[in-house]
Amino acid sequence: MAKTNSFTCNACGAAHTKWSGRCEACGAWNSIVEEAPLSAGPASKSLGGKRGANMVLTDLATEEAPPQRTISGVAELDRVLGGGLVPSSAILVGGDPGIGKSTLLLQAAAQFAHRGLKTIYVSGEEATAQVRMRAQRLGLEKAPVKLAAETNLRDILTTLDAEKPDLVIIDSIQTMWADNVESAPGSVSQVRAAAHELTTFAKRRGISVVLVGHVTKDGQIAGPRVVEHMVDTVLYFEGERGHQFRILRAVKNRFGPADEIGVFEMTGTGLAEVLNPSALFLSDREDPAPGSVVFAGIEGTRPVLVELQALVAPSPHSQPRRSVLGWDSGRLAMILAVLEARCGIPFTGLDVYLNVAGGMKITEPAADLAVAAALLSAREDAAIPKDTVVFGEISLSGALRPVGQTENRLKEAQKLGFSAAIAPAQSKLGSKSGLKVQKMPDLVGFAGEIFGAG
Ligand code: TYD
Ligand code: MG
Repeated sequence: MAKTNSFTCNACGAAHTKWSGRCEACGAWNSIVEEAPLSAGPASKSLGGKRGANMVLTDLATEEAPPQRTISGVAELDRVLGGGLVPSSAILVGGDPGIGKSTLLLQAAAQFAHRGLKTIYVSGEEATAQVRMRAQRLGLEKAPVKLAAETNLRDILTTLDAEKPDLVIIDSIQTMWADNVESAPGSVSQVRAAAHELTTFAKRRGISVVLVGHVTKDGQIAGPRVVEHMVDTVLYFEGERGHQFRILRAVKNRFGPADEIGVFEMTGTGLAEVLNPSALFLSDREDPAPGSVVFAGIEGTRPVLVELQALVAPSPHSQPRRSVLGWDSGRLAMILAVLEARCGIPFTGLDVYLNVAGGMKITEPAADLAVAAALLSAREDAAIPKDTVVFGEISLSGALRPVGQTENRLKEAQKLGFSAAIAPAQSKLGSKSGLKVQKMPDLVGFAGEIFGAG
């Protein structure tokens, strides 16, 4: 019989047959730990010997109404949840330590409690006095939320059984501890066991459960990724430390669209909703500067304009730097290669820096053309007009591909005072937008027409 995997990566949960210093699956260092071997008892034999019960088979058609969601009233949160909280759903909220998860969830707990959900907040990290102080600072001390500081899973489940809440928040899953599992709190086995117990128990009793998970850098404790598959919805709370913006991003949602984002601003009295993120991301834009380009993007169901900034400078190094913030570095390399191979515009001997302003992260290929525009603008030291937005996907041949939701992108740009756009030639344009759209068939044409380059 094949040997069972007995090493697990704390960062991503990948199973390995032997220990190594670096996880091949996710690249984390020092994150692989040995786990108690799976028992090779009767389970490994065929199940065929003894008869099980017959499954109940049903049809696809249903008379049941869709689940009654509860709205928190915080539009940015409700949107990311897919339109409110679904009863007996399990949600994971991951994020770096200190990013604001506890604050966000205490605010959410208060909102849901005010709207009639019986809500319990269990803190495994802070004493109740600390959580109360936070509540006071946030002006939430009157909210009908029940609070406990506890890490013992058995006690938590017993209490939930007796109290029968509608919603429970577990802050954080890495501090929880099941006494039937031998390893230490924070280990992969403990985090998995605790998440499994909590989610299955909650499902059975009709309780919604929110698990907070710290993203860990050093691999000493298990990260939230090891429980992603057990929950219905996975949200990540992101942002740059120096910035006041925070973005709640749905990366998985059984009850709504993934890729949806909610934008918040950190204030002294907690997180405030940002209903018009484009205005916020563009708010400190200076006069047209070489290297700065506004990308008309779509995040989930909503258009969002963000500024891309590039800097291109002669490199003192034999291997020039390629530094990216908020965008995929592999994609940047591809765009540089296409500019060189198809347009004859080399970046050899040049350092390239690319930033998405405001701590935003972009994953859409639709940003390709805006990235190329920022790079060319920086390299040629020529600014793109301030009133222009850019979007389009670049293929390896250098052709520009149209992207989805062109009309929504243009409408958002117009709403924010832009008057022109540069887009792929085959973009489907309605007649509604009042923007002047310059259509480009390929990158060569774009570089030549806009920058006189190539
Ligand atoms: P916290 O919610 O404790 O982060 P996490 O649970 O992810 O570790 O927030 C970290 C710190 O930031 C905390 O001292 C409170 C402060 N903070 C604000 O002052 N205003 C805010 O809007 C937020 C979100 C946090
Ligand atoms: Mg916290």
